[in-house]
Amino acid sequence: MNKLTNDLSHVTEADRANVWHHLLQHKSLETTDPRIIVKGQGLRIWDQHGAEFIDAVSGGVWTVNVGYGRESIANAIRDQLIELPYWAGSGGTIPGALFSEKLLTKMPGLSRVYYANSGSEANEKVFKMVRQISARLHGGKKSKILYRERDYHGATIGTLAACGQEERAMQYGPFPDGFVAVPHCLEYRAQWDVENYGERAADAIEEVILREGPDTVGLLCLEPVTAGGGVIVPPKGYWQRVQEICKKYDILLHIDEVVCGMGRTGTWFGYQNYGIQPDFVTMAKGVASGYAAISCCVTTEAVFEQFKDASDKLSYFRDISTFGGCTAGPAAALENMRIIEDEGLLANTVAMGERIMANLNALMEKHKVIGDVRGAGLFAGAELVADRATKEPMAEAEVSRVVAEGAKRGVMFGMTNRSLTGFNNTLCFSPALIATPDDIDAITDAVDGALTAVFG
Ligand SMILES: Cc1ncc(COP(=O)(O)O)c(C=O)c1O
Repeated sequence: MNKLTNDLSHVTEADRANVWHHLLQHKSLETTDPRIIVKGQGLRIWDQHGAEFIDAVSGGVWTVNVGYGRESIANAIRDQLIELPYWAGSGGTIPGALFSEKLLTKMPGLSRVYYANSGSEANEKVFKMVRQISARLHGGKKSKILYRERDYHGATIGTLAACGQEERAMQYGPFPDGFVAVPHCLEYRAQWDVENYGERAADAIEEVILREGPDTVGLLCLEPVTAGGGVIVPPKGYWQRVQEICKKYDILLHIDEVVCGMGRTGTWFGYQNYGIQPDFVTMAKGVASGYAAISCCVTTEAVFEQFKDASDKLSYFRDISTFGGCTAGPAAALENMRIIEDEGLLANTVAMGERIMANLNALMEKHKVIGDVRGAGLFAGAELVADRATKEPMAEAEVSRVVAEGAKRGVMFGMTNRSLTGFNNTLCFSPALIATPDDIDAITDAVDGALTAVFG
């Protein structure tokens, strides 16, 4: 029982009356109860009515990478909070220093960690660093930030200016200048009829750079595998070409690992699947598996050195994140990394990722509504279509019904929701990295049952 209260019907009403939920149309709570999750253990969660679910989306938004109920993380946080809960980021703390040291052992070529407390904020830090480099080295001219259609980088006005999911940004403008979209690289929704699709999609980035003027572009910001935009794994050849293009035009490469970081794709970071070397890597969700808030912006010594000109009083990075100084985040993150290493969770992610892909591909044989299956590690998507031949996307309301049927079968999976006009049609799976073969089979059995229930 929770130490705060045993009265869960009071909690339900307190929630309904007082909480404004994220990403929720509250009209729905006039006829249904808010779902309150009261407990988690391993891959399982329980709601206020005692119903048990397999959580196939790691806390709803691919966050709880090592699963629920980790006493060792709770203890690490508790011990640190008693010792010292907080000190402003202009100074140091023991967990801040030790976590940065440990993290960088997994990120060859990168050498500095800047702490903040959300993915959006970490991405904003990169945008600010790039703008400051442009101001100092290029008279402010090399300041444009390129982002990709279907990618998402956060909920702030700055990161929404770099949002490739139009429904997330609609009605929140005007946005700051200097953000420019490049085409997405989803081959299933091909924009070019070519064999080497990956290279062609990367060449499209070069076309945008040439149109804008290479001397005006400072940064290219990409997700390694697009998450909320439909679980898009870039095709073969894409990343090598992207790296070449960035080098050719002296454009810094920023990989947003907020979702893929900390093992989700079977490597520590998603970009490490592709042999590329970014200039910035941002991370948040899985860094401490949601046990504490933490995000990091990691960069190279070359970038860091740009901010050390003592002859100019404005040259250093004049930025602060109050809660980037909380010690619970790095204390939890250190223990989170230890668990991933000691329990061999990267290898498990690869093996279970293969299993979920095999199961979903098998379901594709049976269910004509599955148009495409995509994934990397324990991060998979199944795009639903109304017609396999024309690839007409399944209506969002129908996909929502599939998710609801999954929950009736005791499994919570996710979907692209209110992100892309006409394309909110991909089911998403990102269970904790501790998933077993039985867990994976239970998840895909529920998908099978849910699709049968909705489409026959
Ligand atoms: C790829 C990506 N980047 C950034 C963010 C923003 O992170 P946060 O919600 O912690 O600000 C998200 C959140 O879903 C994300 O998926």
